[in-house]
Amino acid sequence: MSLTGGLDGSITFIDEQLEKIAMRIDNLRLAVKWKLCRYDIENMISFLEEYAKVQLPEEETHMCNHGYPLYLSHKEKHKRFTAQMHELREELLKIRPFGYKGSYELSVRTIQAVIDWLNEHIMQDDSRLSEFMRKNRHNKNEREDR
Ligand SMILES: [Fe+2]
Repeated sequence: MSLTGGLDGSITFIDEQLEKIAMRIDNLRLAVKWKLCRYDIENMISFLEEYAKVQLPEEETHMCNHGYPLYLSHKEKHKRFTAQMHELREELLKIRPFGYKGSYELSVRTIQAVIDWLNEHIMQDDSRLSEFMRKNRHNKNEREDR
């Protein structure tokens, strides 16, 4: 993820997140469709855990550095998403002793969690942050040009 890359430094990171997550959802959706989800769910959960561990704190650092006014509520949503991923991992660990690597139900819950995250967080909260950073950068550039 690059919060500072690209021309305006804001659209880039949302586009990157969307692209990565959309690709994963598509893979998992196909796995569910072809009833292969029990083999694919661990990869998806690992990907989401890594995303929560690396990308969300990175985003929080940028919010802090730019004095984002909605930092606390935004960070709280990251925390809830991270907890939700932890719950999915716990569910996966619970069915392991029975010889299952995944389940249809767990796959559906994971897909739902990711789709909610896309619609409610990335498309709304992250878009708002993106817009703030774009304006922030624009104002900073204007001040420097004077
Ligand atoms: Fe976010």
